[in-house]
Amino acid sequence: MTAINPVTDLTVEGDVAIVTLNSPPVNALSQKVREGLHAAFQQACADGAAKAVVLICEGRTFIAGADITEFGGAMGGPSLQDVQDAIEGCSKPVVAAIHGTALGGGLEVALCCHYRVAVPSAKVGLPEVNIGLLPGAGGTQRLPRIVGVEKALQMVTSGEHVPAKAALEMGLVDELVDEGKLRDGAVAYAKKVIAENRPLRKVRDNDDKIQEAKGKPEIFENFRKANARKFRGFMAPENNIKAVEAAVNLPFDEGLKQERKLFNELMMGPQSAAQRYYFFAERQAQKIPDVGDDVATIPIKSVGIIGAGTMGGGIAMNFANAGIDVKIVEVKPEALERGLGVVRKNYERTASRGGITAQQVEERMGRIKGTLSMEDLADVDLVIEAVFERMDIKKDIFANLDRICKPGAILGTNTSGLNINEIASATKRPESVIGLHFFSPANVMKLLEIVRADHTSKEVIATSMKLAKQIGKIAVLVGVCPGFVGNRILGARQREAQKLVMEGAMPWDIDRVLYDFGFPMGPFAMSDLAGLDIGWVKERSKGESIRDVLCEMDRRGQKTGAGYYDYDENRNAKPSPVTEKIINDFIVKSGRNPRKISDEEILERCIYPMINEGAKILEEGKALRASDIDVVWVNGYGWPVYRGGPMFYGDQIGPDKVLAKMKEFEATMGDVFKPAALLEKMVAEGTTFAKLPANPRIL
Ligand code: 3HC
Repeated sequence: MTAINPVTDLTVEGDVAIVTLNSPPVNALSQKVREGLHAAFQQACADGAAKAVVLICEGRTFIAGADITEFGGAMGGPSLQDVQDAIEGCSKPVVAAIHGTALGGGLEVALCCHYRVAVPSAKVGLPEVNIGLLPGAGGTQRLPRIVGVEKALQMVTSGEHVPAKAALEMGLVDELVDEGKLRDGAVAYAKKVIAENRPLRKVRDNDDKIQEAKGKPEIFENFRKANARKFRGFMAPENNIKAVEAAVNLPFDEGLKQERKLFNELMMGPQSAAQRYYFFAERQAQKIPDVGDDVATIPIKSVGIIGAGTMGGGIAMNFANAGIDVKIVEVKPEALERGLGVVRKNYERTASRGGITAQQVEERMGRIKGTLSMEDLADVDLVIEAVFERMDIKKDIFANLDRICKPGAILGTNTSGLNINEIASATKRPESVIGLHFFSPANVMKLLEIVRADHTSKEVIATSMKLAKQIGKIAVLVGVCPGFVGNRILGARQREAQKLVMEGAMPWDIDRVLYDFGFPMGPFAMSDLAGLDIGWVKERSKGESIRDVLCEMDRRGQKTGAGYYDYDENRNAKPSPVTEKIINDFIVKSGRNPRKISDEEILERCIYPMINEGAKILEEGKALRASDIDVVWVNGYGWPVYRGGPMFYGDQIGPDKVLAKMKEFEATMGDVFKPAALLEKMVAEGTTFAKLPANPRIL
């Protein structure tokens, strides 16, 4: 065996040379890896004894892509294209041996090999779109040459990871080898290629699938149209489509050049910078400085849920999906039956769309048992309370759980903003109490705010973080404060949206500005969707707010055909003259004159207070890092990922500009705009949110 460099080895076994990469954690194509591969292939291809070469990786995965940490800086050493040329141009057949995930540049390297084998658990894909890019090492040119243009478009714009079996059917992989026997299987395959004297097959030469799509621009137009909503606001999908178009319309090498140009455009642009930042933000959020890997976790085999309402049912589904038994407790049999019925309907809807099989519906329902007695939770490992937001009810429940549950069981609450320390005080084991704030619909939304209370133990935190991953959630650890991180920042935005209306901006103006910024919908459209009467009580209404008046008129949102907006029979929203009159009457009654408010002011008034609130959250130690706040807002509140998150956006605008505006607003509109002390300090020190050190712990 020859060590080519610290991350690359070359061995020649009989007539097969084996290039082995070992660059943890994911064998990304860093400068070292490129240097190693380049040199190893030059040597292997020149080796007299070797008649074929196998490329294989150590560790958890085949090459998972370019090294994203190198992006944005100067790249040293051989380029990825140099490496690919060395592989594709090798005079002997090269076989890629894939396990784990061959992603992005990793798959693009494999596509330069003449053959590919994989273990059944492997996955392949071109996920660059998720970091605002396109496959910039020939992926958009080679992929359609194997899988066809339509499938290629779908793969590069979704970034999906294709399982090995499907990859085999598509021709992306030539043979599956036994799990755990990749090296032997790949060497055997290489020997077969030698014995059969198979040609040096190059994907670039394969034009059949390209010919099929020539002269059919409608393929691209239809694809754009069908996905317009999904791609709205993003730059990367369009450049991916254009690159595949180039594969069809240009000779291979010209197509490569066009791909590079489109890639560079994205790489230099603001969206990819935001999405790359976000990629690392999500991973960073999983690290809790004072809860290390050495903290033991509690095995969770069964979960109890209190409340079979929308939240309780949705939460239960997460666990049942992950193979964990669930008991749902309700007070009344009808409510229990209704709740379980909704869960079944949700599963059946997924099954009818082909998401799961009928058998899976029954398996999952089989894991969820209903009960009317809290006493049945004596043996569960974790309880999640999901009842109304009333402190007295919650405390009563927790006092009962303290009596009923076995020692060591985790007692979680799904409260979206109540004081968890107070809830914990109803028990004699506050170390076992934690907030597990799911977002509605709980079986769909990715975000989980895990709320650390004063006495929550490290074991309980570590277990909750681990469990979140197991049920497919993205967890962020936050501290106890009204609304925690997500709703607290939302509160700042809602307050301004309401105030803007009382100054003369119409709800649809505010919604439009926020929609154009990239949110899926604005706050007023959202209220109409949710129902304006949530939390509104007719008997107590005094007609004191615009909402009161709308509700009293039975304009309660989409469900009544009118709310802030008017709706047609297809639920298309139109600005409402009725709402406009109500608003204007309110403004006049308050003794003010409506004024024309610019889109710019609407945006600044809605967004800057969010950034400021985020700064307060950080200075109070209720979030560990600014990027954690961004993870909350991207996953739970529809902040467009191509703008990174509110704190990243604050950095892009410039903390000094945000501060200056907050001061200006404070001077004219009062204390609610008072800048956070942290923001003042950051500007004085010339730093940014991204550069702030993480808080040592949640307070
Ligand atoms: N570059 C640099 N670091 C990477 C990386 C990459 N491409 N992919 C993963 N990492 C790092 C992560 O940041 C993490 O670091 P940490 O432990 O310090 O937090 C570590 O590797 C492990 O990653 P995960 O926690 O995500 O591990 P998982 O096992 O859950 O997932 C994975 C593994 C599926 C490979 C996932 O990491 C992933 O999806 N990676 C990104 C893949 C990707 O986007 N590839 C395309 C890159 S762009 C490209 O190739 C351009 C080319 O076309 C020119």
